[in-house]
Amino acid sequence: MNTKQFIPEKSTSFIDNKTYKWQTPSNIALVKYWGKSDPQLPKNASISFTLNNCHTITSVSFSKSTNVNEINFELFFEGQKKDAFKPKIAQFFERIQNYCPYLLEYDMVIDSENSFPHSSGIASSASGLSAIAMCVMSLEKELYPNISEDFIKKKASFLARLGSGSASRSIEGPLVVWGNHPEIEGSSDLFGVKFSKKVHPIFENYQDAILLVDKGEKQVSSTVGHNLMHNHPFANQRFNQANENLSKLSKILQEGDIDAFISIVESEALTLHAMMLTSNPYFILMKPNTLEIINRIWSYRNETNSKLCFTLDAGANVHLLYPENEKEQVGLFIKNELSSFCQNEQFILDKVGIGAKIL
Ligand code: PMV
Repeated sequence: MNTKQFIPEKSTSFIDNKTYKWQTPSNIALVKYWGKSDPQLPKNASISFTLNNCHTITSVSFSKSTNVNEINFELFFEGQKKDAFKPKIAQFFERIQNYCPYLLEYDMVIDSENSFPHSSGIASSASGLSAIAMCVMSLEKELYPNISEDFIKKKASFLARLGSGSASRSIEGPLVVWGNHPEIEGSSDLFGVKFSKKVHPIFENYQDAILLVDKGEKQVSSTVGHNLMHNHPFANQRFNQANENLSKLSKILQEGDIDAFISIVESEALTLHAMMLTSNPYFILMKPNTLEIINRIWSYRNETNSKLCFTLDAGANVHLLYPENEKEQVGLFIKNELSSFCQNEQFILDKVGIGAKIL
């Protein structure tokens, strides 16, 4: 694997007192990534819809460093100094330092805010780390003006991945594949690539309503969950299944076979949680209301001609996926029936988006 392409030559330029601001989205996996090896390499390929409304806005200000021997940064979240988030970001900078040696020459002030409620159970690491990665790449572009837009996206995804695997899928949209897969041209374990095949119009503007079932801290972090896939009795079958599901889904997305889409997406969600149920030690991230919502979605589908389906992240919240032409009907179903199973009746209406935006 060629990671050397991401190591720049020493730069002779210096850019002082410059701020870059990016908005980057969250994403929801259709074929899930669960299991990795060092350094943040996925055990199988995954594909996700990029979201639109759930995003992070981050600015990074770069000024001359007061100590060039280590990476220096201050972190503000929604206007407040946030030292609790610092270790994760410090680890991220440590991992990317080889690929961005110029960062040592700067002090950084990072200012970040999310469009979704704080601790809503929506992972903010994908949008948060991809936003910092884009700001770093904006600096790199000024230091090395000849780098191409394509390289910037690739390297931003590569850097974001080193912070959080799924963050590699938050640079572009509407569909991104991360992980080497023989049928997806250009795919790589190192970074996410846009799904380049022509997608059927039924999947355009696809809707995602996120039902906030449980907003508390997860009992088991995704880092611990990924690690439990080492020595997991079903690990190899699972990694093969995910790669096969991606082959199938690639065809389904092009042909518009929405029933086949539903069956793969729901199976992927339940399989992800089945891996948790069968880990050693085992754990459960779904809540009773997660199951209640799933059962109600199935009844709703039986009673109507709806193509509504669900997927799950590593948590209790439920993502409802449906075509744009069902927006109104499903909206009513959520409001009248499903919202009562959400914490404080909260849900977020989102849809598929196109990726990182400079502000
Ligand atoms: O990127 P991480 O380490 O937070 O892992 C994310 C894993 C899932 O969200 C459960 C699946 C995925 O592919 O996004």
